[in-house]
Amino acid sequence: MTATIIDGKEFAARVRVKVGDHVTRLKNDHGITPGLAVVLVGEDPASQVYVRSKGKMTVEVGMKSVEHKLDINTAEADLLALIGQLNNDPEIHGILVQLPLPKHLNEDLVINSISPAKDVDGFHISNVGLLGTGQKSMVPCTPLGCLMMLRDHHGSLSGMNAVVIGRSNIVGKPMAQLLLGDSCTVTIAHSRTKDLADVVRRADIVVAAVGRPEMVPGDWIKPGATVIDVGINRIERDGKKKLVGDADYESCAAVAGAITPVPGGVGPMTIACLLANTVTACCRAHGFDEPEGLTA
Ligand code: GUN
Repeated sequence: MTATIIDGKEFAARVRVKVGDHVTRLKNDHGITPGLAVVLVGEDPASQVYVRSKGKMTVEVGMKSVEHKLDINTAEADLLALIGQLNNDPEIHGILVQLPLPKHLNEDLVINSISPAKDVDGFHISNVGLLGTGQKSMVPCTPLGCLMMLRDHHGSLSGMNAVVIGRSNIVGKPMAQLLLGDSCTVTIAHSRTKDLADVVRRADIVVAAVGRPEMVPGDWIKPGATVIDVGINRIERDGKKKLVGDADYESCAAVAGAITPVPGGVGPMTIACLLANTVTACCRAHGFDEPEGLTA
């Protein structure tokens, strides 16, 4: 079998068009422009690239983009004061504090100071609790993007066996909650899981989110299963720099029914879902109907 390639780049472009349509409607019908504030502390090069890209795409879909770039030595109290201002700013509907933060800042404290309604990352403890209890919440962008692609490919996920490899708060745990919400039978596997190969072989859906280059080989994959590869690992092979996922693409694609490539799979969906979450937050803040197909 040769797997269908789930094209995240093309899917993300479709999500952005949908977001853009909603933004136009909010502007034309209500005079409201959704606004996203991104806060970056320090000058981590990878974070700078992400933040620039987020800002550019926010503007492209017609939303207001505000960037706050703070010195690496910013005091916690000053960061919390800025978040307080953004929480109270009616033109800002989404707030994202780029992670990781410098070591002297308490990440949990900072994230939990964001108003849950504006927490477009879905990292606030209230949103984590709401998602875990099946209530309306802001959903972390990467797992939301994975869910959208799975629903698009399969229609219903009900009754499928899903194995999530990785137990992070950002991807693994919320991904498992979302799959459970869509009535999958869910296993969360991780570095200490015994007989990981056997666990993965039972899966109709494999979500690989461990951050280890090409650790899932094709002979772990049940023929016809769907592989969602969240990994973005920079490696050097034959003297060339290369981006690879957590799944070994060639061998997995030979067995799977469908697979997301790296790059061009899950990656582009993350920012698209950030934009989707911002428009959702804006609609909720004003009591409007939520955009269809852009939420969990
Ligand atoms: N750093 C890397 N990915 C993310 C993300 O999804 N959200 C935030 N806030 N920081 C990140």
